[in-house]
Amino acid sequence: MFTIERLSAIEILDSRGRPTVKAACLLTSGDVGVASVPSGASTGTAEALELRDGDPNRYRGLGCRKAVAHVNVEINRALAGRTFASQEELDRSLVTLDGTPSKARLGANAILAVSLAFARAAASSRRLPLFEHLNSLLPEPRPRPRLPRPTINLFSGGKHAGGQVPIQDVLVVPVSARTMDEALAMTYAVYQAAADLTRERYGMRALTADEGGLAPPFPSAEAMLEDAVTAIVAADLRPGHDIALAVDVASSHFHRAGVYHLGKARFDSRGMIKLLLAWEERYPILSYEDGLAEEDWAHWPDLAAALGDQTRTLGDDFLCTNPERIRRAVAAKAANALLLKVNQIGTLTEAAEAYRLARAAGWSVTVSARSGETEDDWLADLATGWAGDYIKIGSITQSERLAKYNRLLEIEAETGLDMSVER
Ligand code: PGA
Ligand code: ZN
Repeated sequence: MFTIERLSAIEILDSRGRPTVKAACLLTSGDVGVASVPSGASTGTAEALELRDGDPNRYRGLGCRKAVAHVNVEINRALAGRTFASQEELDRSLVTLDGTPSKARLGANAILAVSLAFARAAASSRRLPLFEHLNSLLPEPRPRPRLPRPTINLFSGGKHAGGQVPIQDVLVVPVSARTMDEALAMTYAVYQAAADLTRERYGMRALTADEGGLAPPFPSAEAMLEDAVTAIVAADLRPGHDIALAVDVASSHFHRAGVYHLGKARFDSRGMIKLLLAWEERYPILSYEDGLAEEDWAHWPDLAAALGDQTRTLGDDFLCTNPERIRRAVAAKAANALLLKVNQIGTLTEAAEAYRLARAAGWSVTVSARSGETEDDWLADLATGWAGDYIKIGSITQSERLAKYNRLLEIEAETGLDMSVER
């Protein structure tokens, strides 16, 4: 039982310097939990609503004072003094209090900050590491905590960079690594080789995109993939054996009126599937995220069938961590992997339901950060406690990313937990 003494929040800035919400939950036991919420740029239209002030004279309308005030006043008034037996009870109360399907009234940013802060306070009162407490929030049969295999941003385009190529991210996956420590050391070698390549081939310093990916002016999407393979070889690693690639196509963002605009080329859905298959033949790609647009439901099953079981057909904007959309996708055999972003849905309990549905369908799960992040590291505990197959944080640069990698290293050092073997 957890009795809330007080809920409070402040506005802080994320890794893009935009406001976001940081909440604190004080329990009557004296335990405190503090948590900050991230924010996306390449967002899905079905995401829960992030409440912004809309005042053009302050942070160009992006202020979060209203969301912060909702925690300090209305949510605190409704929940302080109440006793909750579980995270689920707390989250249900937040959802009911908001009363809208997309959390538009109180704001998903306000609601998630409280949901996470409560989880931290509860973990503290149970004297458990956060990952173990988060594991206990999953319905039976629960997986054993396990370190996720990192998928690490190497090159960026699309909405995370200058849009020089429409493909959003090429990520490296250290498939032969047995530990987090080894995975990060291998990735460092590739990242540095890619930075050298950027200098030599494009005459550029290693300027980075929102998630720390390198973003030289690739002449084409193929050049981006080719350069990734070159960097792996230059790091003395074997493409496909030591390091595979994951691609976040983020195709919703270059899909207009049924047509995919890939640079100068135009594709219909079938053409897009063919292109992804051709890349998969040429490059060691193990996962395509949002290979088709979020509204292209008619063709996602064709994409999943064409890629087969060996490749992850991963839904980000397509699924939005939304249980309803996941149910529909499972029934349609439209994907075989979930990208889980808690702030797309807004509470831990609803994210746990998304997770349960994906696992029940035998899907792979990648727990993911957002492009706008904070120095908070709860994502590492979530991915470990929920035994995510993969975690997606960004590059191994920038402290808002490294806070999570460093927490994974800490969990590994303290617990010796195994890393996911999915590859
Ligand atoms: P975001 O997207 O910018 O909305 O966080 C990241 C991603 O597409 O995975
Ligand atoms: Zn994505």
